[in-house]
Amino acid sequence: MAAVQLRFLLISFFTSIVGEAQDVELIHYVDRRIVLIENRLNKCNQDIIDYVQEFREFSKKMMSRLEGFNILKTELKNDVDHLLTRVERAQRDIDYFEVTKESPTPCVEVDEDLVQQQFMEQEESKNKVKLMLNASCSNMISGIKSLKVVKKSGDAHGSWLKDPGKNYQKIYFLTGTKNKTVLEFANIRTFSESGEKRSARKVTLPFPWHGTGHAVYNGSLFYHRFGSLNEIIKFDLQKKNVIDKMLLPGAGETFVYDLHPSTKIDLAVDELGLWAIHVEPSAGRKLTISKINHEAMAVDYSWETSCKSQNAEAAFMMCGALYVVYNSPGGGTARIECIYDTLDAISPQEIPRIHFPKRQTSHSMIHYDPREKQLFAWDNGSQVIYKLLTNQKS
Ligand SMILES: *[C@@H]1O[C@H](CO)[C@@H](O)[C@H](O)[C@H]1NC(C)=O
Ligand SMILES: *[C@@H]1O[C@H](CO)[C@@H](O)[C@H](O)[C@H]1NC(C)=O
Ligand SMILES: *[C@@H]1O[C@H](CO)[C@@H](O)[C@H](O)[C@H]1NC(C)=O
Ligand SMILES: *[C@@H]1O[C@H](CO)[C@@H](O)[C@H](O)[C@H]1NC(C)=O
Repeated sequence: MAAVQLRFLLISFFTSIVGEAQDVELIHYVDRRIVLIENRLNKCNQDIIDYVQEFREFSKKMMSRLEGFNILKTELKNDVDHLLTRVERAQRDIDYFEVTKESPTPCVEVDEDLVQQQFMEQEESKNKVKLMLNASCSNMISGIKSLKVVKKSGDAHGSWLKDPGKNYQKIYFLTGTKNKTVLEFANIRTFSESGEKRSARKVTLPFPWHGTGHAVYNGSLFYHRFGSLNEIIKFDLQKKNVIDKMLLPGAGETFVYDLHPSTKIDLAVDELGLWAIHVEPSAGRKLTISKINHEAMAVDYSWETSCKSQNAEAAFMMCGALYVVYNSPGGGTARIECIYDTLDAISPQEIPRIHFPKRQTSHSMIHYDPREKQLFAWDNGSQVIYKLLTNQKS
């Protein structure tokens, strides 16, 4: 279009300058040149159009190729996911077979009537305790949400604690399985930020502790006295003196957890108060739990659970239920595999297998904190917190 206009303009221009009859040759010459330029421009135009067309086709092809790649990528990802679930399932099956392999059914004849009577008696006292516990506490753990390493300090084994009461912020640090010195930090921040013991207050106990199963509850430290079979000391952390003690009959003969042969009495605190987890020689390496009245320093009631000590590394109480954590002898991925509910509110069908975050672990204690609904644990010289996922017991 532009070329045509140009040609028209030039012709009129030359015509007016050169005059009509003068040198027609020149005009024709210019005319021919312009036609040539015009043709070339047209050709150039056509080339550009062709090129654009070609480019369009090329990019269309590329787009469809890329789409193909995306589909392939999604398919591959699905395949990998599928494979992962299958591997996980296989691992669970292997774990399950290992567990079932170890429990042959006993063949002993029993007097049905006697058993029946004992059963009735047991049920009766169980119901009494249930009424007594009677707490509006119906949570159970469905999973472990996250892990936080608060600090690395102390021996491979030890215990760190916090009073779950509303007005308590202090952190208590008890490193080792036998010692008399408790370190007290103002709060968890001071604890995590303190490089060494400068910011800690030293509390010296009159008797050393045994194991890592201590508990702090309502301003007092409860611990198994070293050198005694089963004496539990109640030590007032404010006034720094022993205010009471008790014996826990049947406890202290053997270690509670197979994988941590240092603790003979593991104390626990949950929404319902103070508990002791131990093994009685008559119970065949199964864990026993006792509800302890912390004011009277006496046992309210004991339950022989179905949870084994074999391959267990720690346990804790939550809402009246015992959760036992199992692992491999050299350390590995910890998992909750046995739950025993004293309130019978968790049905066996409901019991999930709960894995801790995939990481090499070796816990020498795990305590539930009923106020924050999280777990405090000592993992091979690291002080860690696990946040929990919970749901309602049905
Ligand atoms: C718990 O005990 C209180 C009285 O001690 C009673 O009023 C309440 O109904 C009980 N709750 C349950 C769920 O048994
Ligand atoms: C006892 O605990 C204190 C404070 O944590 C520590 O400095 C000391 O080394 C421990 N003693 C032994 C024998 O482990
Ligand atoms: C906690 O201890 C104080 C005394 O130090 C006592 O008055 C209070 O009743 C206790 N609370 C519980 C829930 O045992
Ligand atoms: C515990 O930590 C020590 C070093 O701090 C390491 O040598 C050992 O392998 C760890 N054990 C486990 C079971 O992770």
